[in-house]
Amino acid sequence: MDQELAGRTALITGASRGIGAATARTLAGAGVSRFLLHYGSYREGAEGVAAAVRAGGARADLLPADLTTSDGIRSLIAQFRALETPVDLLINNAGSLVRRARLAEYTEELYEQVLNLNVKSVWFLTQAVAPGMIERGSGVIVNVSSIAARNGGGPGATVYAAAKAMVSTITKGLAKELAPKGIRVNAVSPGTVDNHFHETFSTRQMLETVIAQTPAGTLGTNEEVADTILFLCTHGARYIHGQTIEINGGMFMV
Ligand SMILES: NC(=O)c1ccc[n+]([C@@H]2O[C@H](COP(=O)([O-])OP(=O)(O)OC[C@H]3O[C@@H](n4cnc5c(N)ncnc54)[C@H](OP(=O)(O)O)[C@@H]3O)[C@@H](O)[C@H]2O)c1
Repeated sequence: MDQELAGRTALITGASRGIGAATARTLAGAGVSRFLLHYGSYREGAEGVAAAVRAGGARADLLPADLTTSDGIRSLIAQFRALETPVDLLINNAGSLVRRARLAEYTEELYEQVLNLNVKSVWFLTQAVAPGMIERGSGVIVNVSSIAARNGGGPGATVYAAAKAMVSTITKGLAKELAPKGIRVNAVSPGTVDNHFHETFSTRQMLETVIAQTPAGTLGTNEEVADTILFLCTHGARYIHGQTIEINGGMFMV
């Protein structure tokens, strides 16, 4: 797999930390030579990732945008278009619970933020990137779903879980639409990854409960997810279309 992706350009959303940052580093190791790195608010993190991939000889541009709003999504698309850079690999990774809220306290504003960030941004960024891939007759899109799409999510995460179910379903529909154009669309579905996401939204006690229920006996890591994203970008995955690969230490097998 070494340098298999030499000369390719990747657009990664949510590349300032966590799975997105690990994916940038991993794809750089496989030869990706140009990165469009989106981030939300953690500029320092995005700059660190850009510095790391540049140190390996790649070029990196930063694209800031708050994807909880339609304006933010439009801004990201405008920045992408302004760069006039053909994208070979689109990794739709940015996502968040925004905050945990159960039915009674769930506001319309939160509902819109969660859907904008986790679904609308995926759909419309893909709409912006796909025409270039279609023109060139090749491209890979990897979306980041979640185990929540399969099990309804943890406490106060129902709408997020439903949003991720949309991501998995969009993955199938787009795979059918774009496969004839030479584009592969797949998704990864992490279980519980030990990173900033759960530092923000979960207690250590919640995580210990997950570990106790996980056959592999550990939480996932950013790198384990990034390695699967890398595989989906490579020739080895050439006949894989429309799949959502579960990465969860055996937590969910149905
Ligand atoms: N961690 C898990 O256990 C887990 C499990 C299943 C699925 N996932 C999914 O994996 C993906 C990556 O998450 P992660 O685990 O790597 O979490 P993370 O470390 O918190 O990173 C989330 C990334 O998404 C970006 N993001 C969050 N809110 C945003 C907003 N309002 N506007 C723009 N960007 C925003 C963040 O950017 P800034 O920090 O720069 O704002 C960051 O780069 C997400 O789609 C998440 O839903 C995570």
